[in-house]
This record gives sequence, structure tokens and C-alpha cells, in this order.
Amino acid sequence: MGIPVGKLSLYTALGGVRPSAVSVVLNVLKACKDQNQWIALLTDLYSINNVMIVMQCLPITIDVGTNNETLLNDEYYIGLRQRRATGEEYHELLQEFMNAVKQNYGEKVLVQFEDFANHNAFDLLAKYSKSHLVFNDDIQGTASVVLAGLLAALKMIGGGLVDQTYLFLGAGEAGTGIAELIALEMSKHTELPVDDCRKKIWLVDSKGLLVESRKESLQHFKKPFAHEHEELKTLLEAVQSIKPTVLIGTSGVGKTFTQEVIEAMASFNEKPVIFSLSNPTSHSECTAEEAYTWSKGTAVFASGSPFDPVEYEGKTYVPGQSNNAYVFPGFGLGVVISGAIRVHDDMLLAASEALAEEATQENFDKGLIFPPFTNIRKISASIAAKVAAKAYDLGLASRLPRPDDLFKYAESCMYTPLYRSYR
Ligand SMILES: *[C@@H]1O[C@H](CO)[C@@H](O)[C@H](O)[C@H]1NC(C)=O
Repeated sequence: MGIPVGKLSLYTALGGVRPSAVSVVLNVLKACKDQNQWIALLTDLYSINNVMIVMQCLPITIDVGTNNETLLNDEYYIGLRQRRATGEEYHELLQEFMNAVKQNYGEKVLVQFEDFANHNAFDLLAKYSKSHLVFNDDIQGTASVVLAGLLAALKMIGGGLVDQTYLFLGAGEAGTGIAELIALEMSKHTELPVDDCRKKIWLVDSKGLLVESRKESLQHFKKPFAHEHEELKTLLEAVQSIKPTVLIGTSGVGKTFTQEVIEAMASFNEKPVIFSLSNPTSHSECTAEEAYTWSKGTAVFASGSPFDPVEYEGKTYVPGQSNNAYVFPGFGLGVVISGAIRVHDDMLLAASEALAEEATQENFDKGLIFPPFTNIRKISASIAAKVAAKAYDLGLASRLPRPDDLFKYAESCMYTPLYRSYR
């Protein structure tokens, strides 16, 4: 339960999504005694934004049981004391929930999926993105932030997305989600079909490189990345054979970008791009210090866990943190202020491009590909504006007419936790 509550707090703190407009109004009403006073207050409240947008956040945890024996036998366990629902029972429950949400709150309620297991996450997203306004942060949010990091990294290393070769360690939600979004962006900026773009992206899972000969046994979300190649068991072999320019770790397994791997990357790249995205720090594929030291200061590095700046041969390198909190609050704000009724992949690309634009030359000079978090409210407003613009362009926005200046509009809709004096 702490996770949805925490995520919603970030929506509010970083993205300015109003935690609950209705309860604000009600609390104020209770606080004042005579009618004239509260009519004045209401008028005042409604004029905070030229258009009052009612946003409300509701954290929800769906308890489908547990298979953990310790919990099942614990008399103080407060969850549902039964084995996890799976298969048809599970899907029926989710269907009932999704239907109820839409029936009660309408077409514009944004449902963010969080922490669903791989096999459910992809299926639920594919299924409900056709009929509901849904967003999966583990898949789409992560992908959007990492793509932003890549777009910014390209400004440091030169060349376009299409000129790179990508190798992922880890082929779960995060890895394949990022890979798909890179292929999509590549395809938008070239005339190449998405399938051809996927050919530039290679993935290694726990059994080795995804290749054609393994296709039959692969989960469906991995299949598009199983290319023609001999079978390779280890990451090092894959790095040596594929010679990627970009190496991305989403494996959840620490210390897997070994000295040999990083040195190999640095041997055939002037500036190897190395993202070690797994969390927490102990699971990071390598540390910032290892990336900079083993690459002799040439790596363009970002990580999922925070790392302090690194001194290497008299120069200070500041590693960027690829944190979902850069994108999802602004993304949600953009969806809400435009009244979007569906999330389209192009809206994710818009968010990535908006975030990439926020990184400055001053940041690049320190090796930093993400802008500092101190500017997050402005970053969120920029992302919201670009996402909303895309929603309008695609005909998915329902809040009409389209505001002229979407950035100003986004800012004007943002909630600021300021206490106003009414007496
Ligand atoms: C089961 O739950 C207990 C209590 O939360 C936890 O300590 C334990 O690691 C869990 N076991 C497994 C196999 O996940």
C-alpha cells in the first residue's frame, strides 16, 4: 500500500497533480461559518486556475492472496488469507475492477499499473490500453526516461539513434519496454519499419543472447528481439561479438558489468554509453566508479541507483540517475489537463523528447545526461505540455478548445501546497 500512496505523493509534489480538489473545497467550507463568507471563498478557490480542473488521486492495492506459507500461517496477517488467484479467476477480477473504474469515474480516469509481475503486466497493458486510459510505469515510464537519457547521450557522442547498436542485459518488463520504445523512436525519425529498427537491438537474458534458434521457447514479449545469430551464453561473449555502442543493464543482478565487459566496450567505442539501471545499489550492474575507471573516463554513464560524483585522473564525473520520477508525474499531468482518453506510444516519445531537451551543455560538460531534480516542477510542466500537445494532435484530447500556450496552461493547473489566509 505504501507504493501507490508514495507514487501519488510524487504526482503531487513533482508533477503538481492536485491530491484532491474536492476535499480541499469541503474542508474550507467546514471551516467558515456564514454563507456569504464561503461563497466568497468558493469564488476565490475556483479562480485560482482559470479553469478549475478537478483531479483526485486514489491509491489502490489489489489483494489476490499470497503463496507465502509464513504469511498464510501468521494469525496477524491482515491480507487475504488464501493462495494467489491466477488464470481466469485473476483476469475476471481485473476485468471487473477495470469496468467498475470506468463506469464510476468515466473515460478520463488514468489507471497506473505498478509492480505487476512480468507475464501479467504486458498482457494487462496490451488488453486495457485499447479500451481504457492506462499507463504502466515499470514498462512505459522506465522506457520513456531511459530513451530521454539516450537522446541526451547522443548529443555527447554524436550520431543518431539509428547509428547505434544496443545490447541489453535483462529481458524483462524494463528491458523489452525500453527496447520497444527505442525502436519506435528510431522508426519515427527514419523511414525504416519498426521491425527493421528492432534488428539493431540485442538482448541477453539469463540463458544467453536472444537468437532465432531460441525463439520457440521464448516468452512472447522477447520474440521480436530474437535475431539471426549463433547462440552465445554470456554477456562478455555477446559484447565481443555484437560490439554494441550502447550497453544497458536491466537484469536486477549486481556486478554483472565486469571489468572485462566495460574494457571491451571501451576498446571499440570512443565513448561507450553504459546504463546500469538495476536497483537498489547492490543490484546495480556496475558502480559509477567502476564504469569511469574501467573505461578510463570515456563512458557516458547513467544508473538506476544514485551514485556520488567520481574523481578520475583529476576530472570530476557526475553520473545521471535514470529515475522514473522524471517522467511519470509530468506525463500524468499532461494526460489529465488535456482530458486524454487513451495513452498512445507517441505521447511517451513526446515525454522523452521533452525531458532530453531539459539537459543543458553545462550538464553535459560534467558527464550528466539528466537535468538536476531541483528543476523538476518546470521539467514536469514541459513534459505535460508536450504530452498534452501530442494528445491533441492525435485527436485523443477531450478538453476543448485546445489552449494556445500549453506550457503556461500546464503551469497554471499545477497544484502548489501553499496555505492561503482567509481571515
Ligand atoms: C514470506 O513472508 C515473510 C514475511 O513477510 C518474509 O520474511 C519471507 O521472506 C517471505 N518468503 C518468501 C519465500 O518470499
